[in-house]
Amino acid sequence: MYNSKIIGIGKYVPDNVVTNQDLSKIMDTSDEWITERTGIKERRWVVEGSDDTTATMGVKAAKQAIERSGLNKDDIDFIIFATLSPDMYFPGPGVQVQHALDIKTVGALDVRNQCSGFIYALSVADNFIKTGMYKNILVIGSELHSHGLDKTTRGRGVSVIFGDGAGAVVVSREEDNSKGILSTHLHSQGEHAEELVVKAPGMGTRWVTDIIADNDENDDSYFPHMNGQFVFKNAVVRFSEVIMEGLIKNNLQKENIDMLIPHQANLRIAQFIQKKFGLTDDKVFNNIMRYGNTTAASIPLALCEAWEEGKINEGDTVVLAAFGSGFTWGSAIIKW
Ligand code: COA
Repeated sequence: MYNSKIIGIGKYVPDNVVTNQDLSKIMDTSDEWITERTGIKERRWVVEGSDDTTATMGVKAAKQAIERSGLNKDDIDFIIFATLSPDMYFPGPGVQVQHALDIKTVGALDVRNQCSGFIYALSVADNFIKTGMYKNILVIGSELHSHGLDKTTRGRGVSVIFGDGAGAVVVSREEDNSKGILSTHLHSQGEHAEELVVKAPGMGTRWVTDIIADNDENDDSYFPHMNGQFVFKNAVVRFSEVIMEGLIKNNLQKENIDMLIPHQANLRIAQFIQKKFGLTDDKVFNNIMRYGNTTAASIPLALCEAWEEGKINEGDTVVLAAFGSGFTWGSAIIKW
């Protein structure tokens, strides 16, 4: 059995910055409300007419990750793409990346686990590498939320939170079992599937012909719905549990954590976890203030910035943790 190691990391965000003040001009909200409840000050939203899509943003992040890995694109032998906002209903964006990067005919897998998507994708990559099936896997998390948000006062409880962006890593075979991804931990609880959900188009439950015939402009099932307080309460419990699970599995104590990268759902959630684990400010990385919640992109985007800022160094114990729609949650314990 091998281990797997992140050897390259990249990111991409669209240029267009949307501040809380900007939002207060299009819906009944305020900088004060958003900052106090979520910590978010601004997010990136793709502008009308831009070439940015979930797939193209993922490609840009992937190119940077491959370049930084020192590998050639043709060394990549598998692609995993996590998103809840694919360009097309099917096929998923994994194949678009294969085509855009012109990487032979390697397999491309799409992961649909929302805010936990990147952890799930990383876990799949880790295990494919551990068994020896693949050597270099490209893992991407990318989201274009802004096209699918209700930007009126009706949708303000959700739309102020989400932003667009992408992150990517190259995960590679590591022969030293004390280095790289030490373990990953995945969970779900489907009884809460509708607490954070986009129901439409939901072809499994509705005829497409009916959807088209209804043509109902008040049908808000295409927009995300979230029971915010319920999600918050579950998130703080599950984040803590799944981080502990990872520490216990590797005989580590909370004092051994050098860097915690929590999924950027809400700054208050991250601060709660930080306090619970007694971590100093330099041991937790947050960038939700600048990007909002970018779902499957949030962890690779934060990991990339923390690494670029020199906050992650060789030998560090890095903990990634996520919670989101499903509910799904997970963690990864990494010896960098
Ligand atoms: N601006 C101003 N007021 C807003 C608003 C906005 N953007 N969104 C909601 N409100 C109002 C509500 O209408 C409500 O008004 P009312 O009391 O008159 O009915 C009031 O603010 C409180 O709403 P509530 O939903 O109870 O707020 P909250 O304190 O729970 O904060 C969240 C809302 C979404 C910020 C918070 O619940 C949260 O962060 N939850 C977790 C979200 C999360 O992590 N999601 C991603 C998981 S991956």
